[in-house]
Amino acid sequence: MSKIKFMFESSNIPLEMHKVRIVQKLNLLSVEDRLDAIDKAGNNTFLLRNNDVFLDMLTDSGVNAMSDNQLAAMMRADDSYAGSATFERLEKAVQKMFHKEFYLPAHQGRACENIIAQTFVKEGDITPMNYHFTTTKAHIVANGGTVVELIKDEGVIVESVLPFKGDMDIEKLESLFKQGTKIAFNRIEVGTNLIGGQPVSLKNMKEVAAVCKKYGVMNLLDASLLADNLYFIKIREEEYKDATIEEITKEISDCFDVIYFSGRKLGCARGGGIITSNKEFYDRMKNLVPLYEGFITYGGMSVREMEAMAIGLEETMDMDMISQGPQFIEYMVNELQKHDVPVVTPSGGLGCHLNAMEFVKHIPQDQFPSASLGSALYLISGIRGMERGTLSEEKNEDGSEHFANMELLRLALPRRVFTLSQVKYAIDRIKWLYDNRELIGGLRLYEEPEVMRFFLGKLEPVSSWQDKLVAKFKEDFGDSL
Ligand SMILES: Cc1ncc(COP(=O)(O)O)c(C=O)c1O
Repeated sequence: MSKIKFMFESSNIPLEMHKVRIVQKLNLLSVEDRLDAIDKAGNNTFLLRNNDVFLDMLTDSGVNAMSDNQLAAMMRADDSYAGSATFERLEKAVQKMFHKEFYLPAHQGRACENIIAQTFVKEGDITPMNYHFTTTKAHIVANGGTVVELIKDEGVIVESVLPFKGDMDIEKLESLFKQGTKIAFNRIEVGTNLIGGQPVSLKNMKEVAAVCKKYGVMNLLDASLLADNLYFIKIREEEYKDATIEEITKEISDCFDVIYFSGRKLGCARGGGIITSNKEFYDRMKNLVPLYEGFITYGGMSVREMEAMAIGLEETMDMDMISQGPQFIEYMVNELQKHDVPVVTPSGGLGCHLNAMEFVKHIPQDQFPSASLGSALYLISGIRGMERGTLSEEKNEDGSEHFANMELLRLALPRRVFTLSQVKYAIDRIKWLYDNRELIGGLRLYEEPEVMRFFLGKLEPVSSWQDKLVAKFKEDFGDSL
């Protein structure tokens, strides 16, 4: 990472180590049109049209900026169904990065999860993990398995100084293994998404690997958010401060039998894959690729994206590249904290996470505080975040709500996409919203899909709070958009 000192800037501001060469025009609707748009979207930010969004902070998935070298590589894609040279280049890049022998391509992260769950999860199996991810859990449950979260207790405390909140509780893991229950595999998710993009230490990964080895349990890594996690190991884990990113990646890889990733996050393209050196595991998973994804040399991906992913993975080894996201997020978190806005700390990867449980503490959990905050933020800024709270949870078997441990509004910062002034705009509007938080009210569902309702569910305000919020916005911002 390049060290650059400012002489006259009072706070430490992040500096982009890239320049912009292709731009996309943005559109900021008037507050009245935003009210109309969020109403049509059923107060679900997933259902907004992108043309109605000013800053799209929904996700970092498939929307990271590509480098000139990635775009150039796309031009030489070898478009053949079987045995494409593009696949060989991608396979080589994956093997070089993870030091493992076999690579199975798949069209995105959840496609890998489907293959892994179908291969290894049987009815009644338990799958311990540091923390669940929505699609991962859905695939395990669909195959008759159960997820057990073994994150350390401090991991779910929203405001903390713990540098690696994604760490697994080793004692809990060992005591689960000792019970002799049938375990499909153990799963570690780096850059743990649902608790605020929080990293896992390499020390913890090594301890987990040792316990898995002792009890003969397969150890699986979800490497989708590896780029951010690599940065944090380098910055926060004293033992690895002088190690190269390549060396850290190899040490991580050595801890796991099987690794999978969403290339929409890792590698800044659209795709994914599964990696292992275990020939038996590879053979068991291999036949599912042509069934669900496509032939074994493209796995449902476009060859252009595969070329871009090969370069993107190589570029992940560059500290300038992987530090941009976490540094921008840290800036945003620090600035919001100066105004007492409740956020997940320490700052993680992926995005800045507002703590809705505190921000709108007057909204009960059965009125979806994170979704309410997401609706309010869009209304007053055109910024689209993602609900990561009770709406993102599956309901209990008896149909009652399963209240989330954390109620978060995630504001993702896709890598190299936003400028600092756009981030400052977001900070400005969030501070205003915090000062006017009492005006925000709850939501109730009026259309509820049975699974993963956060994607397509529709909600309505429980009162006329949105009109009041719009009126206050106009009073304070005058004719500003
Ligand atoms: C940690 C993690 N695992 C798996 C996935 C699923 O990946 P995809 O969206 O490519 O299906 C995601 C996506 O957000 C993720 O964050």
